[in-house]
Amino acid sequence: MILPIGSALPPSLLQAARDLATQDALFVDGANTAGWYARPLKKNMQAKPAPAVSKLLRQIGDVISSHELVQAAARPKSVVRLLLSRYGSGMEYGAHVDDAIMDGQRTDLSFTLFLSDPDSYQGGELMIDEPSADRAFKLDAGSLLLYPSTTLHRVAPVTSGQRLVIVGWIRSLIRDPGQREILFDLERSIAQLRQQSEQREVLSLLLKSRSNLLRRWAED
Ligand code: NI
Repeated sequence: MILPIGSALPPSLLQAARDLATQDALFVDGANTAGWYARPLKKNMQAKPAPAVSKLLRQIGDVISSHELVQAAARPKSVVRLLLSRYGSGMEYGAHVDDAIMDGQRTDLSFTLFLSDPDSYQGGELMIDEPSADRAFKLDAGSLLLYPSTTLHRVAPVTSGQRLVIVGWIRSLIRDPGQREILFDLERSIAQLRQQSEQREVLSLLLKSRSNLLRRWAED
């Protein structure tokens, strides 16, 4: 499941992230944090783990992992890692799969939080490989794309302007993507039924099913 989430970040945090993303002194070659396979493919800049960057990324990680839709779709156990990245003209990230284990934790879902207005740069789409064709994503500033870490994906070359993003990884309580999707569908059904007072018995059964599936599937 690939899920775009609009306005995932409050404007004040979006502005704070953009402010940090334009401080040149904070940035180093992004290839430094790539594994041997991805290193030659990764042509971007990445913020160093300076205190101001780490603090902001922690705040943003908390906002993202507690977002209602992220909770429902990803069932986060933890946000494994967050990186503030910048792609200037000519930069790109070739097709790769993200590391399965980061800092000792499994990565189940990846996300890209777009910080730049889409009209302010050309190219720079996040391309996710699907059997039929690549799907291209370029979301509004403050919006988030959540996708399975199991995919091959790439960032198309930026041809002008600057693409500012925060990328991150989530360790889920639910390892299996199919099980996550069933729980997400249940959650959406529950949200609709909550509006209808005459459906209380059906709602109780759905809540019971959700709880009992979580008991079966969750790795705490
Ligand atoms: Ni990646």
